[in-house]
Amino acid sequence: MDLELGGKVVLVTGGSDGLGAAVARRLVREGAKVALCARGVERLEATAASLRAEGGDVLTIQADVSKEWQVEHFVDAAHARFGRVDALVNNAGTAAARAFASVSDAEWEADLQLKLFAAIRASRQAIPLFKDAGGGSIVNVLAISAKTPGANSTPSSVSRAAGLALTKALSKELGPHGIRVNAVLVGIIESGQWVRRAHEVGKPVESFQQEMARHAGIPLGRVGRAEEFADLVAFLLSPRAGYISGTAINVDGGLSAAV
Ligand SMILES: NC(=O)c1ccc[n+]([C@@H]2O[C@H](COP(=O)([O-])OP(=O)(O)OC[C@H]3O[C@@H](n4cnc5c(N)ncnc54)[C@H](OP(=O)(O)O)[C@@H]3O)[C@@H](O)[C@H]2O)c1
Repeated sequence: MDLELGGKVVLVTGGSDGLGAAVARRLVREGAKVALCARGVERLEATAASLRAEGGDVLTIQADVSKEWQVEHFVDAAHARFGRVDALVNNAGTAAARAFASVSDAEWEADLQLKLFAAIRASRQAIPLFKDAGGGSIVNVLAISAKTPGANSTPSSVSRAAGLALTKALSKELGPHGIRVNAVLVGIIESGQWVRRAHEVGKPVESFQQEMARHAGIPLGRVGRAEEFADLVAFLLSPRAGYISGTAINVDGGLSAAV
């Protein structure tokens, strides 16, 4: 299926590794132009170089999305470079789930800045540009804990639940402007963060992931592949998903208890 993404300009926060990088690769293969941001410039440039080697038109901006001016600058720089903005993937994030009593105010604040305020600010900055382009699409990358928080899941599950509310509220408000807003709820999917975790505990990545899948009880019996996630996000961003807005889709091999 042609996703009709050729020539579209898509912004991906946290696009240098893991799920964000997989989305960027999928978009480049569809002919979209992509702008990526992350804090670490070396990995960002390495990812961009491999995308350019596939013919991608890629802009990189070093930015910490938990800082207001940096995330706003990312959106503005992409607009300045490409002359339009059609879509935004609010993806940057990291795992943060601990016993409630051990999470300090500063850690709550940092999690909300990274996972909620970054999406708020990037969306606020991009919305006028979507309107100029005649419409747009936002995908908020969240986690299944947004709907089904477990024990020891704060602060992340709370930030993610706020992301769900943001998704629905914005979809209602922006629909009349041709702007669609959706969320993807991730279960456990291969990415840089799991590779680093496997190295930390001194296990081969493959067996570490198999163990995670077994331990979590994933019905499909394995963790997800980043490409499987990227396929869904690319579809949601594309005109082929033109009647889908205000929804949240689990990509979790059946793990979540909630539909
Ligand atoms: N993979 C999973 O199983 C899973 C499960 C649930 C939710 N998620 C969510 O999915 C998203 C992607 O996760 P992932 O697994 O792909 O993680 P990852 O492999 O660690 O990649 C995270 C990306 O985000 C960037 N990033 C992190 N903090 C940032 C910040 N403050 N400002 C800008 N960029 C930042 C990282 O680059 P720098 O470090 O260089 O900034 C990197 O490019 C996250 O929001 C994560 O919480 C993933």
